Parts: sequence; structure tokens; C-alpha cells
Amino acid sequence: MFETLTSPAPDKILALIALLRDDPRQHKVDLGVGVYKDREGRTPIMQSVRDAEQVLFAEQTTKTYLGLAGDTAFDTKMTELVLGDAAPAARVRAIQAPGGSGALRILFELLRRARPDATVWVSDPTWPNHIPMIEASGLKHVSYPYFDAATGTVRFEAMLAALAQAKPDDVVLLHGCCHNPTGANLTLEQWREIGKLIVEKRLFPFVDIAYQGFGEGLDADAAGVRLLATLVPSMVIAASCSKNFSVYRDRVGCAILLAPSAAEADIAYAQLCSVARANYSMPPDHGAAVVRIILTDPARRAAWVAEVDAIRERMIVLREGLAAALRKHSGSNRFDFIARHRGMFSRLGLSVEQVHRLRAEHAIYMVDDSRINVAGLPDDRLDDVARAIVAVL
Ligand SMILES: Cc1ncc(COP(=O)(O)O)c(C=O)c1O
Repeated sequence: MFETLTSPAPDKILALIALLRDDPRQHKVDLGVGVYKDREGRTPIMQSVRDAEQVLFAEQTTKTYLGLAGDTAFDTKMTELVLGDAAPAARVRAIQAPGGSGALRILFELLRRARPDATVWVSDPTWPNHIPMIEASGLKHVSYPYFDAATGTVRFEAMLAALAQAKPDDVVLLHGCCHNPTGANLTLEQWREIGKLIVEKRLFPFVDIAYQGFGEGLDADAAGVRLLATLVPSMVIAASCSKNFSVYRDRVGCAILLAPSAAEADIAYAQLCSVARANYSMPPDHGAAVVRIILTDPARRAAWVAEVDAIRERMIVLREGLAAALRKHSGSNRFDFIARHRGMFSRLGLSVEQVHRLRAEHAIYMVDDSRINVAGLPDDRLDDVARAIVAVL
């Protein structure tokens, strides 16, 4: 059987983790892996999550099946967290999914059932997992220009011009906030323009929101997706709780859909449940129950919001610190965009060779495309990091 298979291409991030682990240098700096890290380089369990786990432990009386949509109170709360009151509840449906990845995958499959010939337009660059998921669901994909590496900004005019070429019912995949891997994000005015184009060309928006709260704030980070929901008749959203609740391994996500009418929403929802049934059947409960406990209790929710705020503020301080250190050591404002970017990542615009030199000569690890995880920056050694980056330019 297996003799017909060949090895898949190695995962670059996993390879980077192994290299870093085997590097004996004490001062090594990990800017690679996409998880939040605190000052000590740990990815701690949030206090609000620990507290909710105690509640769950005390209250849970059964582990019987919940159903294809998972914890429906979680689904309602997640819809509120992402959409606020931007869309009428009658036209919105949601199902719990195994992580943002699970939500992406079942939504792509739903779109495949609805429009087998649709092409998904993805940003260049995008989160590398988007592409295999689109391919595995049987849809085609093409990229639209997004990032100008020289200035660290969004190529908005080029993006609009490309999307103007899309066919009706083509899918436009947008990062809700904190673009991965670039850190460059759309302004609200740009979201509005994209919404207008989507309506005019009868395209279908798909928003992937995996870092809500890590950019400008929980509501500000959802402003684009909420605006879009007021402009378009239908859309889908994949939301991840991995980062903003720090429940990575518990696999917590939500697939949300907006339809033109309640009747259409019901059918799309039933189809989405059937896609889930044919995949993993039901999502894991633990993490979603924890998120539901937090979001349904005002005091717990406030404590969680404070933790998310602290994470975001730390990353902004690190951004400003690194941008200032790079200005000092390079004598130029070339890297000022790091302070303007938002979210966990920034793409520095270095060549692969420069990235490899940083690794070999300075023990600074980042992905080959020069994406850095800002949370991995050592706050007491920003000057060292900046000096090393300038040394390889
Ligand atoms: C852009 C983007 N979307 C979705 C995800 C999905 O995350 P998870 O499946 O761990 O919830 C990630 C995680 O890194 C991401 O960066």
C-alpha cells in the first residue's frame, strides 16, 4: 500500500523548531514559532482560563455527545464576540469547530458544495496553511497582491485591481486583523472599499480571524469584518480561540455564516453540519466549554479582556522598542513599519540569505520569509537583535 507514497515537503516551521532546540548557544532568540510568549519565553495558561477550568471541573456531570455544532452557547457567544450586533441574528448561524483550522476547512468544503467552480483569492503572501486547505477541499486558488516588502505596507490599489478581475461567486479570503505573516493590515476605509467591490462584482467574502484582540483591541480588530457584514448579503468567517484564549492544543474555533435570509441560513447551516459529520463528526468540548464559561460571565469576561489587553500592550511596546533600536543602529527609518504593524507578526523584508546569516552568526531564528514573532523578542536585548539585523543587511 504505502509504497505508492513519497515523502511530503518538510514543514519549514517544524524544521526551524528542531534547529533551535539543538542550538547550544545560551543567547539564542526564537522569533519563529507562531505562539504568544511572555517575558520569560513561556506560553502560560491564562488565569481566566484556569479559573474557568475549575468551574468546568466542578460543574460537568457528563461527557456524552453534544452534537455536530458542539456547544451552542459557545457558538452564540463567539458570534457576538466577532460580529457584535453588525448582522441580524436571523441570518447568522455558527458551529463550533476544531480550531480556526477546522473552521477554515469545513467552510471551504461548504463553499465547494455550493460553488464547485469557484476560485479562492488569497493574499500574497498568506498563512501557508490556507493553500493546502483550499486544495484539499477541492477548490482552486489564485493570489492577489497584498504586501510591499520595501515599505512594509499594503499594496491596496494593486489588491483592488486584482480583485476587480474575479468572477461572480469567487471567494475573497481576507485576514480579519493582524495579518499573518506580514503584520500589515487594512484600514476601515479600505475594508469599506473592498466591501463595495465585493457587492459590485458579486464576490463572496471569507474572513479568517485568528488574532482578535492582538492588534488594536477586541472590538477594533473586528471592525473590518463587522463593517463587511453590514454591506454584503452573505459571507463566512473562521474564528480561532487558539491565540486570544491561549488554548492552542485544546482546538477551539468557530465557523460562522451569514446568509441573505433565515431560510438560506438554515440550509447552509445544515450543510455545514453535514460537512463536519463527514469529517470529524463532533468538535472537542473542553476548550470551547471553557471559552463559553468565560464569555457568559461578565466578571470572568472582564478578567479575560484584561489579560488580552496586557498581551497586546506588551507586543506594541516590543514593536516600538525594536523599531527605535533599528532606527538607532541602521541610521534609517527603513524598519519604522514594525511599530505601525499590528498583531503577533511582522515581515522584515530580508532575503533568505540574510535570515540564514542571522541564524548562523547571531542565533536569531525566524522563518525564511523573514517573518518575526514579535512576542519572542527579548525586551532587555532589543539593541542586540537590532545590531544583528543591521549587521546582515
Ligand atoms: C491566519 C491564521 N488563521 C488560522 C489559524 C488557525 O489556528 P488554529 O487552528 O490553531 O486555531 C492560524 C494559526 O496560526 C493563523 O495564523
